Amino acid sequence: MNRYTGRTVIVAGAGGGIGRAACLRLAAEGAFVVCMDISETRDETAELAAGEGKPAGGGACPVHLDIADSQGVKETMAAAIRDHGPIDALVNCIGGGQPLASMEIDEAAFDAMFEFNVKSVYRSCWALLPHMSERKSGKIVNFSSVAGRSASVLQGAHYSSSKAAVIGLTRHLAREFGPSGVNVNAIAPGVIASPRILAQMTPEQEARAIAATPLGRIGTPEDIAGVVAFLASEDARHITGVTVDVNGGFFLS
Ligand SMILES: NC(=O)c1ccc[n+]([C@@H]2O[C@H](COP(=O)([O-])OP(=O)(O)OC[C@H]3O[C@@H](n4cnc5c(N)ncnc54)[C@H](O)[C@@H]3O)[C@@H](O)[C@H]2O)c1
Repeated sequence: MNRYTGRTVIVAGAGGGIGRAACLRLAAEGAFVVCMDISETRDETAELAAGEGKPAGGGACPVHLDIADSQGVKETMAAAIRDHGPIDALVNCIGGGQPLASMEIDEAAFDAMFEFNVKSVYRSCWALLPHMSERKSGKIVNFSSVAGRSASVLQGAHYSSSKAAVIGLTRHLAREFGPSGVNVNAIAPGVIASPRILAQMTPEQEARAIAATPLGRIGTPEDIAGVVAFLASEDARHITGVTVDVNGGFFLS
């Protein structure tokens, strides 16, 4: 039996590089994956994940989600619970950065970054935590970044600080909802070759990132997907409040 047989997972940001890899991995392990994204790339993800999942009894479906629409998030999550529930895990992949020097970041840009990276986690967690605590079971995986642990090599200070906030939010929810049977953890990826990052990174930045990584390469979305599949599973049942660094040893250099 696969560890996700009979389990349903919501992936928010399913159409992106890391989100797509997570959906495919979870489905391949037998999960039914609700692939949420604002972009129509979610449709292709769901199709690919359904194909990956078939041999293991997994499946997938696409769902439109705009994480910026507070009321819409509540309604979309409630519909997912009604149509596909109970929900065993939530993976929050929505987020991203902006390569600005600190003095170029005005208040509107700073607020927008927190809206995108922190309020997105707030909205989906707040929509699903009542359901998970009522069931006394649930796993949440949030996305921080090496930038939230240290300082970003590609993005601005507003990105680094928003990703540090995700670590704090994760720890707090873990303490508060542990007694309700909900595990809340985060992943802090290093530089990962998602299409967004590949489009942004110059060859010089890529060479510098590789030189600063003891394992000698930048990461792949699949490197992250394996850790998502662990943290969102029962194998991680006694882990909560942690942020797992997946960066090839970036800190060690
Ligand atoms: N790729 C990296 O190097 C890296 C490093 C550290 C942390 N991270 C974090 O990992 C996560 C995933 O990164 P990625 O590189 O796969 O990003 P990505 O841009 O490929 O994926 C993000 C997804 O979020 C979706 N999205 C954007 N706005 C949305 C909205 N309003 N509503 C719903 N969906 C929306 C996008 O359509 C996209 O599919 C992010 O939180 C990112 O900050 C990535």
